[in-house]
Amino acid sequence: MISLRGVVKHYGDRTALAGIDLEVPAGTVQGLLGPNGAGKTTIVRVLTTLLEPDAGDALVAGRSVRTDPDGVRRSIGVSGQYAAVDEKLTGFENLRMVARLYGMPRRTAAARARELLRDFRLEDVPATLLAGQYSGGMRRRLDLAGAIIARPPVVILDEPNMLKGDTYRTSYLQCTDFKLAA
Ligand SMILES: Nc1ncnc2c1ncn2[C@@H]1O[C@H](COP(=O)(O)OP(=O)(O)O)[C@@H](O)[C@H]1O
Ligand SMILES: [Mg+2]
Repeated sequence: MISLRGVVKHYGDRTALAGIDLEVPAGTVQGLLGPNGAGKTTIVRVLTTLLEPDAGDALVAGRSVRTDPDGVRRSIGVSGQYAAVDEKLTGFENLRMVARLYGMPRRTAAARARELLRDFRLEDVPATLLAGQYSGGMRRRLDLAGAIIARPPVVILDEPNMLKGDTYRTSYLQCTDFKLAA
């Protein structure tokens, strides 16, 4: 599902990735562990087409980040290290916007946004509350909900351990329909 082949990335004269090979089969959840500066976020940037590798290639859902970056973007849901939500929109508006950007019809987008607000325990938040007024945890949940709203075949999360509380972690895995590899 994800395949990195000899991926090299330099920032100036600093080598962040020195030829990474990695296979992540479909239907599995894989975590990448490493100390600060190990290159985890750089891998996320390559996989999400934000950075082009200097050498090697990465395939996401069969699409190359080099030759088919649009195809890659259509196949992924992403939640970065810091929650990226539009602070001037409500939670519902944020999710509906993300769904619309994925190309979902208006009605489906609204229904799916409501569904995810429930899944991520954000349904009791006052409907008029802007995401800018959300707590850190609420923003993070909203951001994660956006990452899976279109049911992309691949979900890429940077620092998902920042999601506080077992309840949310569990419901997150459940609502992504992930099947954990044994
Ligand atoms: N924009 C950048 N410019 C220069 N060096 C960077 C930049 N981003 C990351 N690095 C360096 O690349 C290496 C890998 O960083 P990163 O991928 O952020 O690691 P991690 O996410 O595992 O903490 C580190 O040495 C970091 O200092
Ligand atoms: Mg990082």
